[in-house]
Amino acid sequence: MVELFRIVGGARLAGNVTVTGAKNSVLKLMAAALLAEGRTVLTSAPQILDVVIMGEVLRRLGCMVTMDGGTVAIDCPERLGSEADYDLVRRMRASICVLGPLLARTGEAKVALPGGDNIGSRGLDLHIAGLTRLGAEVTSEHGFIIARAGKLTGASVWLDFPSVGATEQILMAGVLAKGTTVIDNAAREPEIVDICTLLGEMGAQIFGAGTSTIEIDGVEGLHPATHETLPDRIVAGTWAIAAVMTRGDVTVRGAQARHLEITLDKLVTAGATVEPLLGSTGFRVAMESRPRAVDVVTLPYPGFPSDLLPMAIALGAVSDGASMVTENVFDSRFMFVNELTRLGGDVRTDGHHAVVRGRERLSGAPVRATDIRAGAGLVLAGLCADGSTEISDVSHIDRGYPDFVANLRGLSADIERVEVPELDFPLEF
Ligand code: UD1
Repeated sequence: MVELFRIVGGARLAGNVTVTGAKNSVLKLMAAALLAEGRTVLTSAPQILDVVIMGEVLRRLGCMVTMDGGTVAIDCPERLGSEADYDLVRRMRASICVLGPLLARTGEAKVALPGGDNIGSRGLDLHIAGLTRLGAEVTSEHGFIIARAGKLTGASVWLDFPSVGATEQILMAGVLAKGTTVIDNAAREPEIVDICTLLGEMGAQIFGAGTSTIEIDGVEGLHPATHETLPDRIVAGTWAIAAVMTRGDVTVRGAQARHLEITLDKLVTAGATVEPLLGSTGFRVAMESRPRAVDVVTLPYPGFPSDLLPMAIALGAVSDGASMVTENVFDSRFMFVNELTRLGGDVRTDGHHAVVRGRERLSGAPVRATDIRAGAGLVLAGLCADGSTEISDVSHIDRGYPDFVANLRGLSADIERVEVPELDFPLEF
């Protein structure tokens, strides 16, 4: 049996939805727990599969991990293992983020290479170059990255691109290095600030988090801490765009509007009303008419997030006019366009640009979620399509959106999760 989302389009989303902690933060916070012996507790963790996978990565390294609602407790032993195997890394590329903390704690780390990467590849070159600058020797053997260092030593690291993963990797290695590490052209994402806040609570000395230059004065040891995960700005942005596409009225509770400034500003340009909530965190997004087409350019934070690109294209697909959407962060985001085209989307891509010509309505069809964000973009498109849309491979969506179907139903969407046989004919000659 396989699971599908079945959506009947046409509903106007209305009501309240609450966002929990950010997936892209909590996974790194969990890895950071490896840096200190004892119990680190993370609250507001999203209840999603990726958190379970990271929990298993930590367990196999010797930690005891318990999850209770949105609280993840990690008991980190004095002596850690040093190997993360392919079975887990292939399920979640972000597992690679244990490399830096393991190396800092144990002097050795062996982490399976995520599929499609080798140690010189674009996906990891900045991670490896950074750790090498701190004195690690990094090699690759039998499908693993192996990093060794007697004691890491602080150094200046200049990133060619403000990579989120590389910044985190170097941060987590630098906090226990001897001397000062400076990361120039560092990523400025709120998730970077969140991990620096946790590391600070654990006793690390970090200056400049949230700016392009982060300075880390290495310390001898860290202690565990309790920390609340920052709210998920990508989930919050998805709700905001969904409200606009369905001409709805949605209050997104628990979200930080200041982490979504450009996104919310685009929605105002499209014709929406966006207002902060009085007395609590969150915002309300309301839309009366068909959205106007807006151009979008993704960039590292504080630019428009690449993770919201599929939703921006889905928005363009139902807007009045043509939008130019430009992707500057990842090469493969436009794969999702083929699926949107099956729903009647009029999208043409050329290199890292897409021209989206809006249609009054899309047309329901079976489509496939190719990744977390593409899947969410297709759900939004399905909400605006005539008839029924069936989305397969929904496990991708479950990785990033806790209780997505229940939350959508709470906002009056006609969506259900159904189980169907994988094949309705025998697979035999
Ligand atoms: C993280 C997020 C992802 C988000 C992205 C950008 C997690 C689990 N994922 O991914 O959702 O879209 O930030 O905000 O937190 N690059 C290199 N060399 C490297 C590393 C990266 O060339 O060593 C390139 C990548 O190929 C990509 C770009 O830099 O084109 C951005 O990558 P990066 O910022 O590192 O994103 P991730 O940390 O992988």
